[in-house]
Amino acid sequence: MMNHEMQQVLSNPSAQRAARPALVDTYAQFPIEPVSGNGATLLTRDGREYWDFYGGHAVALLGHSHAGVTRAVTEQMAKLTFYSNVVPLEIRARAAERLCRFAGADLNSVFFCNSGAEANENALKLAIQQTGRKRIAVLEGGWHGRTLLALSATTEEKLRAPFSDLLVDSVRLRPNQLNDVDKLDAGIAAIIVEPILSIAGIVELSAEFLQALRRRSNQTGTYLIYDEIQTGAGRLGRPYVAGAFNVAPDMSTSAKGLANGMPIGAVLMNERVASRVKAGDLGSTFGGGPVVCAALLAVLDTIERDSLCEHAARLGDAMHQELVVGPVERVLGRGCLIGLRTRGPAKAVQQKLLDAGFVTGTSADSNVLRLMPPINTPPEAVLLLRNALCAIQ
Ligand SMILES: Cc1ncc(COP(=O)(O)O)c(C=O)c1O
Repeated sequence: MMNHEMQQVLSNPSAQRAARPALVDTYAQFPIEPVSGNGATLLTRDGREYWDFYGGHAVALLGHSHAGVTRAVTEQMAKLTFYSNVVPLEIRARAAERLCRFAGADLNSVFFCNSGAEANENALKLAIQQTGRKRIAVLEGGWHGRTLLALSATTEEKLRAPFSDLLVDSVRLRPNQLNDVDKLDAGIAAIIVEPILSIAGIVELSAEFLQALRRRSNQTGTYLIYDEIQTGAGRLGRPYVAGAFNVAPDMSTSAKGLANGMPIGAVLMNERVASRVKAGDLGSTFGGGPVVCAALLAVLDTIERDSLCEHAARLGDAMHQELVVGPVERVLGRGCLIGLRTRGPAKAVQQKLLDAGFVTGTSADSNVLRLMPPINTPPEAVLLLRNALCAIQ
Protein backbone atom coordinates (compact mmCIF):
# COMPACT_ATOMS: atom_id res chain seq x y z
CA MET A 1 0.00 0.00 0.00
CA MET A 2 1.25 3.47 -0.89
CA ASN A 3 1.65 5.89 1.96
CA HIS A 4 0.88 9.61 1.68
CA GLU A 5 4.53 10.65 1.39
CA MET A 6 5.16 8.21 -1.47
CA GLN A 7 2.01 9.41 -3.34
CA GLN A 8 3.31 12.98 -3.10
CA VAL A 9 6.72 12.01 -4.47
CA LEU A 10 5.24 10.18 -7.46
CA SER A 11 2.84 12.98 -8.38
CA ASN A 12 5.31 15.81 -7.92
CA PRO A 13 8.68 15.73 -9.76
CA SER A 14 10.33 18.30 -7.50
CA ALA A 15 9.41 16.22 -4.44
CA GLN A 16 10.97 13.25 -6.29
CA ARG A 17 14.08 15.35 -6.70
CA ALA A 18 14.17 16.24 -3.03
CA ALA A 19 13.83 12.58 -2.02
CA ARG A 20 16.92 11.49 -3.93
CA PRO A 21 20.30 13.18 -4.49
CA ALA A 22 20.85 14.69 -7.97
CA LEU A 23 23.84 12.40 -8.62
CA VAL A 24 22.77 8.97 -9.88
CA ASP A 25 23.39 6.46 -7.16
CA THR A 26 25.41 3.80 -9.01
CA TYR A 27 28.65 3.56 -7.04
CA ALA A 28 29.47 1.80 -3.79
CA GLN A 29 31.57 4.49 -2.13
CA PHE A 30 34.39 4.58 0.42
CA PRO A 31 33.33 6.34 3.65
CA ILE A 32 35.78 9.25 3.20
CA GLU A 33 35.50 12.56 1.36
CA PRO A 34 38.83 13.87 0.08
CA VAL A 35 39.07 17.65 -0.18
CA SER A 36 42.70 17.91 -1.26
CA GLY A 37 45.60 15.72 -2.21
CA ASN A 38 49.34 16.08 -2.01
CA GLY A 39 51.50 13.42 -3.67
CA ALA A 40 50.62 10.02 -2.20
CA THR A 41 48.43 11.47 0.55
CA LEU A 42 44.83 12.69 0.78
CA LEU A 43 43.24 15.10 3.22
CA THR A 44 39.57 14.44 3.99
CA ARG A 45 36.78 16.82 5.02
CA ASP A 46 37.00 15.68 8.64
CA GLY A 47 40.69 16.71 8.74
CA ARG A 48 42.26 13.22 8.56
CA GLU A 49 45.25 12.42 6.37
CA TYR A 50 45.46 9.11 4.46
CA TRP A 51 48.16 7.35 2.49
CA ASP A 52 46.54 6.65 -0.86
CA PHE A 53 47.35 3.09 -1.92
CA TYR A 54 44.30 3.11 -4.22
CA GLY A 55 45.12 6.18 -6.31
CA GLY A 56 41.54 6.97 -7.37
CA HIS A 57 41.47 3.55 -9.05
CA ALA A 58 45.04 3.58 -10.39
CA VAL A 59 44.69 7.06 -11.87
CA ALA A 60 46.91 9.20 -9.61
CA LEU A 61 50.03 7.82 -11.29
CA LEU A 62 52.26 10.69 -10.11
CA GLY A 63 50.24 11.42 -6.99
CA HIS A 64 47.65 14.09 -6.34
CA SER A 65 47.85 17.66 -7.58
CA HIS A 66 51.27 17.11 -9.15
CA ALA A 67 52.97 20.49 -9.59
CA GLY A 68 54.47 19.77 -13.03
CA VAL A 69 51.21 18.45 -14.49
CA THR A 70 49.23 21.32 -12.94
CA ARG A 71 51.62 23.86 -14.46
CA ALA A 72 51.53 22.24 -17.91
CA VAL A 73 47.72 22.06 -17.87
CA THR A 74 47.14 25.62 -16.68
CA GLU A 75 49.63 27.07 -19.17
CA GLN A 76 47.97 25.20 -22.03
CA MET A 77 44.49 26.19 -20.77
CA ALA A 78 45.51 29.83 -20.97
CA LYS A 79 47.03 29.45 -24.46
CA LEU A 80 44.45 27.28 -26.27
CA THR A 81 42.04 25.23 -24.19
CA PHE A 82 40.63 23.15 -27.00
CA TYR A 83 40.41 22.51 -30.68
CA SER A 84 39.19 19.27 -32.20
CA ASN A 85 40.94 16.93 -34.63
CA VAL A 86 39.66 18.93 -37.57
CA VAL A 87 42.88 20.98 -37.34
CA PRO A 88 46.50 19.87 -36.84
CA LEU A 89 48.01 20.83 -33.47
CA GLU A 90 51.73 20.74 -32.78
CA ILE A 91 51.19 19.64 -29.16
CA ARG A 92 48.97 16.72 -30.25
CA ALA A 93 51.57 15.52 -32.78
CA ARG A 94 54.29 15.89 -30.14
CA ALA A 95 52.28 13.93 -27.54
CA ALA A 96 51.66 11.11 -30.05
CA GLU A 97 55.30 10.94 -31.05
CA ARG A 98 56.44 11.00 -27.43
CA LEU A 99 54.01 8.31 -26.26
CA CYS A 100 55.01 5.97 -29.08
CA ARG A 101 58.69 6.50 -28.29
CA PHE A 102 57.99 5.82 -24.60
CA ALA A 103 56.01 2.63 -25.36
CA GLY A 104 58.50 1.14 -27.86
CA ALA A 105 57.68 -2.43 -29.00
CA ASP A 106 57.04 -1.21 -32.59
CA LEU A 107 53.86 0.57 -31.46
CA ASN A 108 54.50 3.51 -33.77
CA SER A 109 51.05 5.09 -34.10
CA VAL A 110 48.42 6.19 -31.62
CA PHE A 111 44.74 7.12 -31.66
CA PHE A 112 43.68 9.32 -28.76
CA CYS A 113 40.28 9.02 -27.07
CA ASN A 114 39.01 9.69 -23.55
CA SER A 115 38.74 6.57 -21.39
CA GLY A 116 39.74 2.95 -21.02
CA ALA A 117 36.50 1.50 -22.34
CA GLU A 118 36.69 3.79 -25.35
CA ALA A 119 40.26 2.70 -26.06
CA ASN A 120 39.29 -0.99 -25.93
CA GLU A 121 36.13 -0.35 -27.97
CA ASN A 122 38.20 1.26 -30.72
CA ALA A 123 40.92 -1.41 -30.63
CA LEU A 124 38.33 -4.19 -30.99
CA LYS A 125 36.48 -2.26 -33.72
CA LEU A 126 39.70 -1.96 -35.70
CA ALA A 127 40.39 -5.69 -35.31
CA ILE A 128 36.87 -6.64 -36.46
CA GLN A 129 36.90 -4.16 -39.33
CA GLN A 130 40.35 -5.09 -40.60
CA THR A 131 40.01 -8.88 -40.33
CA GLY A 132 36.36 -9.04 -41.41
CA ARG A 133 35.78 -11.52 -38.55
CA LYS A 134 32.97 -11.33 -36.01
CA ARG A 135 34.24 -13.21 -32.95
CA ILE A 136 36.75 -12.23 -30.29
CA ALA A 137 38.71 -14.16 -27.65
CA VAL A 138 39.02 -13.12 -24.03
CA LEU A 139 40.40 -14.39 -20.74
CA GLU A 140 38.21 -15.73 -17.96
CA GLY A 141 38.13 -12.94 -15.34
CA GLY A 142 39.21 -10.23 -17.82
CA TRP A 143 37.73 -6.76 -17.30
CA HIS A 144 37.78 -4.30 -20.20
CA GLY A 145 34.97 -1.76 -19.74
CA ARG A 146 31.25 -1.18 -20.06
CA THR A 147 30.68 -0.11 -23.69
CA LEU A 148 29.29 -2.92 -25.82
CA LEU A 149 32.45 -4.30 -27.42
CA ALA A 150 34.48 -3.76 -24.25
CA LEU A 151 31.69 -5.49 -22.33
CA SER A 152 31.77 -8.34 -24.86
CA ALA A 153 35.36 -8.88 -23.74
CA THR A 154 34.50 -8.65 -20.03
CA THR A 155 33.41 -11.84 -18.30
CA GLU A 156 31.59 -10.38 -15.27
CA GLU A 157 28.17 -12.01 -15.71
CA LYS A 158 26.20 -9.44 -13.70
CA LEU A 159 27.28 -6.68 -16.10
CA ARG A 160 26.77 -8.75 -19.26
CA ALA A 161 23.37 -10.27 -18.53
CA PRO A 162 21.11 -7.28 -19.43
CA PHE A 163 22.86 -6.94 -22.81
CA SER A 164 23.60 -10.58 -23.61
CA ASP A 165 21.83 -10.44 -27.02
CA LEU A 166 23.83 -7.38 -28.05
CA LEU A 167 27.30 -8.64 -27.25
CA VAL A 168 29.61 -10.14 -29.87
CA ASP A 169 30.42 -13.81 -29.64
CA SER A 170 33.48 -14.51 -27.51
CA VAL A 171 35.69 -17.53 -26.90
CA ARG A 172 37.06 -17.81 -23.36
CA LEU A 173 40.55 -18.95 -22.45
CA ARG A 174 41.71 -19.63 -18.89
CA PRO A 175 44.67 -17.43 -17.86
CA ASN A 176 48.03 -19.21 -18.20
CA GLN A 177 46.47 -22.44 -19.56
CA LEU A 178 48.65 -23.28 -22.54
CA ASN A 179 46.15 -25.95 -23.65
CA ASP A 180 43.52 -23.25 -24.19
CA VAL A 181 45.61 -21.32 -26.71
CA ASP A 182 44.46 -23.67 -29.50
CA LYS A 183 40.96 -22.26 -29.03
CA LEU A 184 42.15 -19.34 -31.15
CA ASP A 185 41.11 -20.07 -34.73
CA ALA A 186 40.97 -18.26 -38.06
CA GLY A 187 37.46 -16.97 -37.27
CA ILE A 188 38.65 -14.83 -34.36
CA ALA A 189 39.39 -11.15 -34.97
CA ALA A 190 41.32 -10.45 -31.78
CA ILE A 191 42.36 -11.79 -28.42
CA ILE A 192 42.43 -9.10 -25.74
CA VAL A 193 44.30 -9.66 -22.46
CA GLU A 194 45.34 -7.69 -19.39
CA PRO A 195 49.00 -8.73 -18.84
CA ILE A 196 48.10 -8.70 -15.13
CA LEU A 197 44.38 -9.31 -14.63
CA SER A 198 43.76 -6.64 -12.06
CA ILE A 199 40.11 -6.70 -11.07
CA ALA A 200 40.18 -10.52 -11.14
CA GLY A 201 42.61 -10.35 -8.19
CA ILE A 202 46.11 -9.61 -9.61
CA VAL A 203 46.60 -12.68 -11.82
CA GLU A 204 49.89 -12.31 -13.69
CA LEU A 205 50.18 -13.85 -17.15
CA SER A 206 53.31 -15.93 -17.65
CA ALA A 207 55.87 -15.25 -20.37
CA GLU A 208 55.12 -18.70 -21.82
CA PHE A 209 51.42 -17.95 -22.09
CA LEU A 210 51.94 -14.55 -23.74
CA GLN A 211 54.48 -16.07 -26.15
CA ALA A 212 52.04 -18.87 -27.00
CA LEU A 213 49.27 -16.33 -27.65
CA ARG A 214 51.58 -14.40 -29.98
CA ARG A 215 52.62 -17.55 -31.88
CA ARG A 216 49.03 -18.78 -32.27
CA SER A 217 47.78 -15.31 -33.26
CA ASN A 218 50.40 -15.18 -35.99
CA GLN A 219 49.21 -18.58 -37.30
CA THR A 220 45.53 -17.63 -37.32
CA GLY A 221 45.80 -13.98 -38.40
CA THR A 222 44.24 -12.88 -35.09
CA TYR A 223 45.20 -9.51 -33.60
CA LEU A 224 46.82 -9.64 -30.17
CA ILE A 225 45.63 -6.73 -28.03
CA TYR A 226 47.11 -5.89 -24.63
CA ASP A 227 44.78 -3.96 -22.34
CA GLU A 228 47.44 -1.97 -20.49
CA ILE A 229 44.98 0.39 -18.87
CA GLN A 230 46.29 -0.64 -15.47
CA THR A 231 49.65 -2.20 -16.35
CA GLY A 232 50.92 0.60 -18.61
CA ALA A 233 52.43 4.06 -18.25
CA GLY A 234 55.25 2.90 -15.97
CA ARG A 235 53.15 1.31 -13.24
CA LEU A 236 54.86 -2.10 -13.46
CA GLY A 237 58.38 -0.72 -13.46
CA ARG A 238 58.71 -0.57 -17.25
CA PRO A 239 56.87 1.69 -19.72
CA TYR A 240 54.41 -1.00 -20.92
CA VAL A 241 54.35 -4.80 -20.81
CA ALA A 242 54.29 -4.60 -24.63
CA GLY A 243 57.74 -5.74 -25.75
CA ALA A 244 58.53 -7.71 -22.56
CA PHE A 245 59.31 -11.44 -23.00
CA ASN A 246 59.93 -10.76 -26.72
CA VAL A 247 56.19 -10.38 -27.27
CA ALA A 248 54.93 -7.34 -29.15
CA PRO A 249 51.13 -7.02 -29.35
CA ASP A 250 49.46 -5.54 -32.43
CA MET A 251 47.73 -2.98 -30.24
CA SER A 252 48.08 -1.82 -26.67
CA THR A 253 45.43 0.27 -24.95
CA SER A 254 46.20 2.82 -22.26
CA ALA A 255 44.20 5.20 -20.05
CA LYS A 256 43.89 5.69 -16.23
CA GLY A 257 47.04 7.52 -15.05
CA LEU A 258 48.45 8.37 -18.48
CA ALA A 259 47.55 12.06 -18.00
CA ASN A 260 47.49 11.82 -14.17
CA GLY A 261 43.74 12.33 -13.88
CA MET A 262 42.87 14.30 -17.01
CA PRO A 263 40.52 11.98 -18.98
CA ILE A 264 42.51 10.17 -21.66
CA GLY A 265 42.46 6.94 -23.64
CA ALA A 266 45.00 5.79 -26.19
CA VAL A 267 45.14 2.96 -28.72
CA LEU A 268 48.78 2.31 -29.58
CA MET A 269 49.21 0.22 -32.71
CA ASN A 270 51.88 -1.30 -34.93
CA GLU A 271 52.39 -0.63 -38.63
CA ARG A 272 50.28 -3.66 -39.67
CA VAL A 273 47.21 -2.08 -38.00
CA ALA A 274 47.94 1.60 -38.57
CA SER A 275 48.61 1.16 -42.30
CA ARG A 276 45.07 -0.19 -42.76
CA VAL A 277 43.28 2.64 -40.94
CA LYS A 278 41.47 4.78 -43.51
CA ALA A 279 40.27 8.36 -43.09
CA GLY A 280 37.07 8.34 -41.07
CA ASP A 281 37.51 4.88 -39.52
CA LEU A 282 38.05 6.35 -36.04
CA GLY A 283 36.96 9.58 -34.43
CA SER A 284 36.49 11.46 -31.18
CA THR A 285 35.66 15.11 -30.50
CA PHE A 286 37.66 15.45 -27.31
CA GLY A 287 40.37 12.83 -27.93
CA GLY A 288 43.84 14.35 -28.20
CA GLY A 289 42.77 17.81 -27.03
CA PRO A 290 45.63 20.21 -26.27
CA VAL A 291 45.17 20.31 -22.49
CA VAL A 292 45.18 16.55 -22.05
CA CYS A 293 48.17 16.32 -24.40
CA ALA A 294 50.01 18.86 -22.21
CA ALA A 295 49.23 16.69 -19.18
CA LEU A 296 50.44 13.56 -20.97
CA LEU A 297 53.71 15.23 -21.98
CA ALA A 298 54.25 16.41 -18.38
CA VAL A 299 53.61 12.87 -17.10
CA LEU A 300 56.11 11.28 -19.50
CA ASP A 301 58.69 14.04 -18.81
CA THR A 302 58.38 13.38 -15.07
CA ILE A 303 58.57 9.59 -15.38
CA GLU A 304 61.75 9.86 -17.45
CA ARG A 305 63.38 12.75 -15.55
CA ASP A 306 62.77 11.19 -12.11
CA SER A 307 63.46 7.56 -13.21
CA LEU A 308 60.02 6.57 -11.94
CA CYS A 309 59.88 3.22 -13.74
CA GLU A 310 62.86 2.18 -11.66
CA HIS A 311 61.23 3.64 -8.53
CA ALA A 312 57.98 1.74 -9.22
CA ALA A 313 59.96 -1.50 -9.59
CA ARG A 314 61.74 -0.87 -6.28
CA LEU A 315 58.44 -0.11 -4.52
CA GLY A 316 57.05 -3.39 -5.85
CA ASP A 317 60.07 -5.30 -4.53
CA ALA A 318 59.69 -3.59 -1.15
CA MET A 319 55.97 -4.48 -0.99
CA HIS A 320 56.87 -8.12 -1.74
CA GLN A 321 59.52 -8.09 0.98
CA GLU A 322 57.68 -6.19 3.70
CA LEU A 323 54.00 -6.94 3.47
CA VAL A 324 53.67 -10.67 4.27
CA VAL A 325 52.65 -9.76 7.83
CA GLY A 326 49.47 -9.71 9.93
CA PRO A 327 46.52 -10.92 7.84
CA VAL A 328 48.58 -11.15 4.59
CA GLU A 329 49.79 -14.56 3.49
CA ARG A 330 51.14 -13.70 0.03
CA VAL A 331 51.99 -10.72 -2.15
CA LEU A 332 51.01 -10.84 -5.85
CA GLY A 333 51.80 -8.67 -8.86
CA ARG A 334 54.69 -6.31 -9.47
CA GLY A 335 55.66 -2.65 -9.42
CA CYS A 336 52.76 -0.55 -8.21
CA LEU A 337 50.03 -3.05 -9.14
CA ILE A 338 50.03 -5.34 -6.13
CA GLY A 339 47.63 -7.83 -4.59
CA LEU A 340 47.73 -8.85 -0.94
CA ARG A 341 46.27 -12.32 -0.45
CA THR A 342 44.61 -12.22 2.96
CA ARG A 343 43.67 -15.09 5.27
CA GLY A 344 40.21 -13.69 6.02
CA PRO A 345 38.01 -11.52 3.79
CA ALA A 346 39.98 -8.69 2.15
CA LYS A 347 37.09 -6.32 2.77
CA ALA A 348 37.54 -6.52 6.55
CA VAL A 349 41.27 -5.81 6.15
CA GLN A 350 40.46 -2.87 3.85
CA GLN A 351 38.21 -1.36 6.54
CA LYS A 352 40.83 -1.78 9.27
CA LEU A 353 43.49 -0.19 7.05
CA LEU A 354 41.15 2.70 6.35
CA ASP A 355 40.70 3.20 10.10
CA ALA A 356 44.51 3.23 10.37
CA GLY A 357 44.83 5.87 7.61
CA PHE A 358 45.43 3.82 4.41
CA VAL A 359 43.13 3.75 1.38
CA THR A 360 43.24 0.43 -0.51
CA GLY A 361 41.01 -1.45 -2.96
CA THR A 362 39.38 -4.85 -3.13
CA SER A 363 38.98 -7.13 -6.17
CA ALA A 364 36.68 -9.80 -7.57
CA ASP A 365 38.65 -12.30 -5.45
CA SER A 366 37.27 -11.78 -1.94
CA ASN A 367 40.69 -12.67 -0.48
CA VAL A 368 42.75 -10.22 -2.50
CA LEU A 369 43.26 -6.61 -1.48
CA ARG A 370 44.59 -4.39 -4.27
CA LEU A 371 47.28 -1.70 -3.97
CA MET A 372 47.67 0.76 -6.86
CA PRO A 373 49.67 3.61 -5.30
CA PRO A 374 51.28 6.50 -7.18
CA ILE A 375 54.56 5.33 -8.71
CA ASN A 376 56.46 8.09 -6.88
CA THR A 377 55.17 7.05 -3.44
CA PRO A 378 57.99 7.46 -0.87
CA PRO A 379 59.37 4.08 0.33
CA GLU A 380 58.57 5.01 3.97
CA ALA A 381 54.85 4.62 3.12
CA VAL A 382 55.42 0.89 2.55
CA LEU A 383 56.97 0.56 6.01
CA LEU A 384 54.07 2.46 7.57
CA LEU A 385 51.65 0.16 5.76
CA ARG A 386 53.58 -2.82 7.11
CA ASN A 387 53.18 -1.47 10.66
CA ALA A 388 49.45 -0.99 10.12
CA LEU A 389 49.08 -4.57 8.81
CA CYS A 390 51.06 -5.92 11.78
CA ALA A 391 48.62 -4.19 14.14
CA ILE A 392 45.59 -5.93 12.59
CA GLN A 393 44.36 -8.82 14.75
C1 LIG B 1 41.91 -3.27 -17.21
C2 LIG B 1 40.83 -2.24 -17.46
N1 LIG B 1 40.40 -2.06 -18.71
C3 LIG B 1 39.44 -1.14 -18.98
C4 LIG B 1 38.87 -0.37 -17.99
C5 LIG B 1 37.82 0.64 -18.32
O1 LIG B 1 38.33 1.93 -18.16
P1 LIG B 1 37.35 3.18 -18.01
O2 LIG B 1 36.68 3.08 -16.68
O3 LIG B 1 38.28 4.38 -18.12
O4 LIG B 1 36.40 3.12 -19.13
C6 LIG B 1 39.28 -0.56 -16.67
C7 LIG B 1 38.68 0.21 -15.57
O5 LIG B 1 38.83 -0.04 -14.40
C8 LIG B 1 40.30 -1.52 -16.40
O6 LIG B 1 40.74 -1.73 -15.15
